[in-house]
Amino acid sequence: MRHTRWFKDMVFYQIWPRSFRDGNGDGIGDLWGVLEKLDYLKELGIDGVWFSPLYPSPGADCGYDISDYMDIAPEYGGMEAFRAVLEGLHQRGMKLVMDLVVNHTSDEHEWFQKSRRRIEPYTDYYIWRPAKPNGKLPNNWDSHFEGKAWQWDDLRQEYYLHLFAVKQPDLNMDNPLVRTEVKKILKFWLDLGVDGFREDVITFISKKEGLPDDHLFPIFKGIRFYNHGPHIHEYLQEFRRDVLENYDCMTIAEAPLVTPQRALDYIEESDTNEIDMMIQFQCMCADCFFTDYMPRSFSLKRLRRAFSSWQKSHPSGLGDWQYKLAGRGWNALYLENHDHPRVISRYGSEQYRVESGKMLAVSYLFLKGTPFIYQGQEFGMTNWRPESTSMYEDVQTRNQHPDWPEEKRLALYHRASRDSARTPVQWTDGEHAGFTTGTPWFYVNENYTSINAEQALHDPDSILNFYKKAIALRKSLPVVRDGSYQEYYRGSDKLYVYARETKEQKLLVICSFTDKPVRFQAPYNFSLGDMKLLLTNYDGTREENSFLTRPYEARVYLYE
Ligand code: GLC
Ligand code: CA
Repeated sequence: MRHTRWFKDMVFYQIWPRSFRDGNGDGIGDLWGVLEKLDYLKELGIDGVWFSPLYPSPGADCGYDISDYMDIAPEYGGMEAFRAVLEGLHQRGMKLVMDLVVNHTSDEHEWFQKSRRRIEPYTDYYIWRPAKPNGKLPNNWDSHFEGKAWQWDDLRQEYYLHLFAVKQPDLNMDNPLVRTEVKKILKFWLDLGVDGFREDVITFISKKEGLPDDHLFPIFKGIRFYNHGPHIHEYLQEFRRDVLENYDCMTIAEAPLVTPQRALDYIEESDTNEIDMMIQFQCMCADCFFTDYMPRSFSLKRLRRAFSSWQKSHPSGLGDWQYKLAGRGWNALYLENHDHPRVISRYGSEQYRVESGKMLAVSYLFLKGTPFIYQGQEFGMTNWRPESTSMYEDVQTRNQHPDWPEEKRLALYHRASRDSARTPVQWTDGEHAGFTTGTPWFYVNENYTSINAEQALHDPDSILNFYKKAIALRKSLPVVRDGSYQEYYRGSDKLYVYARETKEQKLLVICSFTDKPVRFQAPYNFSLGDMKLLLTNYDGTREENSFLTRPYEARVYLYE
């Protein structure tokens, strides 16, 4: 089947179902709640939804520990509600993308329960190793969430590998039977009508033979032996050839530490590319080293480098002649998801919440690629700051520095925890922020009385209405999809300025990442007076070639 790459014209929205909207009053977000909000999404300009896992799960990692891949959890509404949502989306011309989590399963999955009892054919579905004679673990790898990467199993009398939580044993993808299971899962959902997959830590699925000790990396020990492992391309090609290719679907791969150059091995457009887009992490590291838990101060230079390097290495969508010359792929654009704190609290300013929320929208919505918006981002939700570390739910958070004094831990969690993105969506200023009529499963951020979707819908100057405008504008301008990318003010730690250009159109985007006034002078080849100001987060903007920026000011200009 011809791969039509429909996703290039789309804006996606990510739903983390547990906290999106509770439709039946049990305090847990669900698909009935999603049904109520489909028109809200449509009006925002959304073309497709990526759902974080909806499958049955014991919840050790909020659904990323799956116990049945071919069902929908009863608390989310089961298959019936899922079919209704799928239909509701398709009726409105929107797509549905599932999360595919096959690096690991839940330890409560039937496969694992049989594997630990050596029941065929499941014996080798996971990565089992005996204890070493000296009593040491099979190797020195770290898990990302809970201590070392090995857990002893009393029943089987062996260790199993878990790159994430103890309750998330890694599948043995080298076993062809496991790959057949993955293909069955893909086929099952595609046959039901879903439009694609977001593939969870998919670059981790092939581990180096022999699982050698890692004596090089001080953090993430072992990662160089399983990230982009020896058979990764072979396996992804197999999934493509045997299943994906038969459907006009899209794939987006979560890829920790991936560089734009390496990404092309997966996404370079051809009839046989394995993956359509990658979720890179550089854009999440402008205020940290590798993970949110190793903070440093925000640097716009770092953020610019992250954006620009991907924009430049993937010059897809240029005119046909350039298209043939350049190495190319398509970008996924995002500033928030369920794994990171809220972006206004990180790269913007809570004091200038509305201004910086809009500026951040501009900073990435006019780049080349497919934007993703995370629930609550569209009306400017900010970080959650509970009074005690015991209020955190997330397994990754709870395992960060358990030995530190409470105060120091709390400060780090306030800044870095992904639970800030997981508090219930604030729909109204009513009880429980309108998320549920029951008792919410998790804490509601106390700022819901002022920050909520209802307020934003009615306020013409809200972040939400700005997103609507920006999305509509993006879709009306071919230059956003097709134009080249040029950065200006490359040395600036305050202004992010870029241009997009086709033969017909020229766009100039100016974003200030500070509350201080900065002198902006149009680049020599632009005359703002001759351009049309399409979008800005301030009133009374005059069209002059040089001006002092206001706090977190953003402007988008067009030449035609
Ligand atoms: C991915 C998910 C994250 C999850 C982890 C383990 O990074 O986005 O939420 O905890 O994989 O599945
Ligand atoms: Ca519910």
